[in-house]
Amino acid sequence: MSAPAAVEMRRVSRHYGSVAAVDDLDLTIAEGEFVALLGSSGCGKTTTLRMMAGLEQPSSGDIVVKGRRVNDVPVHARNVGMVFQNHALFPHRTAFENIAFGLKYRKVPKPEIARRVARALEVVRLPHVADRLPSQLSGGQQQRIAVARAIVIEPDLLLFDEPLSALDAGLRDELRVELKRIQKSLGITTVFVTHDQQEALSMADRIVVMHGGRKRQEGTPEDIYRAPNSEFVMRFFGRVNSLPGTVTSAGGGTMQVALAEGVSLPVPGDAAPGTKLSLLLRAERLRLVPDDGTPALRGHVTGVDYLGMMVRYDVACGGETFQAIQPAEDAVLPIGTPVALSLRGEDLVLS
Ligand SMILES: Nc1ncnc2c1ncn2[C@@H]1O[C@H](COP(=O)(O)OP(=O)(O)OP(=O)(O)O)[C@@H](O)[C@H]1O
Ligand SMILES: [Mg+2]
Repeated sequence: MSAPAAVEMRRVSRHYGSVAAVDDLDLTIAEGEFVALLGSSGCGKTTTLRMMAGLEQPSSGDIVVKGRRVNDVPVHARNVGMVFQNHALFPHRTAFENIAFGLKYRKVPKPEIARRVARALEVVRLPHVADRLPSQLSGGQQQRIAVARAIVIEPDLLLFDEPLSALDAGLRDELRVELKRIQKSLGITTVFVTHDQQEALSMADRIVVMHGGRKRQEGTPEDIYRAPNSEFVMRFFGRVNSLPGTVTSAGGGTMQVALAEGVSLPVPGDAAPGTKLSLLLRAERLRLVPDDGTPALRGHVTGVDYLGMMVRYDVACGGETFQAIQPAEDAVLPIGTPVALSLRGEDLVLS
């Protein structure tokens, strides 16, 4: 038999009055895994995390840690480390004292506390700030101290609730890399709550997309991005164009689909000839190319949003406006530029 999962939620629900904050959630997290819970505001991420921590009890269902049901085990009897959005360090205690707090509570002998705090400060790369108060630290440093405080107890489970959302973009990027490094080097099972797709894609081994208290899809970052199981999940990861098409022939898992302007493409799928489809295409898979006279969707640029590395274009085409995101390596096309749209059948997803 394989080892029991680090954490399992079995058909867990949490109701507040008539609101189902978490609704029939099944989740299995393997030992050492880094899982991101991703979803928009109010989808039940924090409630899920609080139940894993023991700060909240499920209305129904079971939470199982390493094979043991822990529904009734309170937070102080579980070995979890937590880091929240507003790190809430004790303002009148030094960094050292903040980190040492959980160890004192556990009655760890003083010399060992000193050793472990020093080690935790090294892990978060702040060995020189032990004697400073939180007010003498930058926001990013405070957040690292909060991480040190969570890992110093050597938790079985590390829970993060949007720990980077209060930081500016540069610091957020830096800490993403840093947190992932720390998690991998210590091998602690980690659940990371975020509403930021980039954060989830860049940090997690596995992403669980939530909506309305329910799980909508789970998989590796690549799975979720490449093979979204619904229009909802696809739209959650960026801008999406919708194109109408009609199946002209089908067989062997591929359909020939006629779009507008005499364009016809092979698309994965098996719908019968004559079927009208709505096809979805990510903005970054639509390319603007010079018109070479071959059958193509044609239009003109109506909007330009220069993002530095990328340029986002609005393109009027027939009665529709499509969005295209292109690397900014070529000159930026001005508004009014006539363009042809290049797309590949394999990038089209049935809605
Ligand atoms: N103590 C509570 N009493 C009543 N309703 C609650 C309580 N806690 C959460 N809810 C409701 O449950 C739902 C899920 O809340 P939760 O805090 O888990 O969302 P979230 O995904 O963390 O959102 P955010 O991204 O805004 O932090 C929301 O509709 C919220 O209003
Ligand atoms: Mg929340």
